[in-house]
Amino acid sequence: MPGKSKCSIERHGDGPAIVFLHGYPLNRSLWQYQTDALKPAHQVVLVDLPGFGVAPATDRNQLKSMADIADAVEESLQLAGNVEPIVLVGLSMGGYIALEYWARYRERLRGLVLTNTKASADSAEAIETRKQTAQKAMVSGTEAAVSPMLEKLLAKPNLSMPELVTWVKQSMYSVPPQTIEMALLAMAARHDFSDRLAQIQIPALVIAGAEDEITPASGMQQMAARMPNAEFHIVPQSGHLSPLEQPQVFNHLLLDFLGKL
Ligand code: MLT
Repeated sequence: MPGKSKCSIERHGDGPAIVFLHGYPLNRSLWQYQTDALKPAHQVVLVDLPGFGVAPATDRNQLKSMADIADAVEESLQLAGNVEPIVLVGLSMGGYIALEYWARYRERLRGLVLTNTKASADSAEAIETRKQTAQKAMVSGTEAAVSPMLEKLLAKPNLSMPELVTWVKQSMYSVPPQTIEMALLAMAARHDFSDRLAQIQIPALVIAGAEDEITPASGMQQMAARMPNAEFHIVPQSGHLSPLEQPQVFNHLLLDFLGKL
């Protein structure tokens, strides 16, 4: 008996499927500019991860790891009829999930795009901070827990772009506290993928934001260097949300990569 989809999936266009996984604590509208650019020649598959956007509610008892979420993504894709090979694009937490997806379902992948993310696990200090933030979300609500993150998400000049800031705030603050808790604890429990990067044989595109404070470009460059078939690019004037902060540059890199597959 097929299960119920834990993710919410929205599709646009026809052609080879490109599946997009957003970061924390956002939703699939992160990819609004990529949707327009890709849909004339691709099937754009936008995923709201469990508990985010319009996906069904979830909590820490249902999903405990990036692997659990990768399984939820695959199950939801199957339920939506996306059974052909895909290109998977993941930003930050979406990238952590994409690495787990590769580990579990690599035969499903034609290519992998990792943006504004990293392969390492959390330090002991980072794990402690995540646990405290998770508790804060449950006690004081989502806004209190996630608002300190805002200024780290965007490059400094982009923090004065009202539309961008409004979108980020609305997206972050509308996430239920239970989802914040689930995602933080699952990220804190994630594995270190650094030693497995050399096994990723499929074509990969690794994109960093020049001013990304959360997942710095230097770390992403080292990550790409360990992947045998990866190309690496830095997006100028971008913080942690390169697809949204510099959509034209990002789309150019993505379309160029897809054209070579
Ligand atoms: C994200 O953008 O998904 C998060 O910043 C990732 C993280 O907190 O490690």
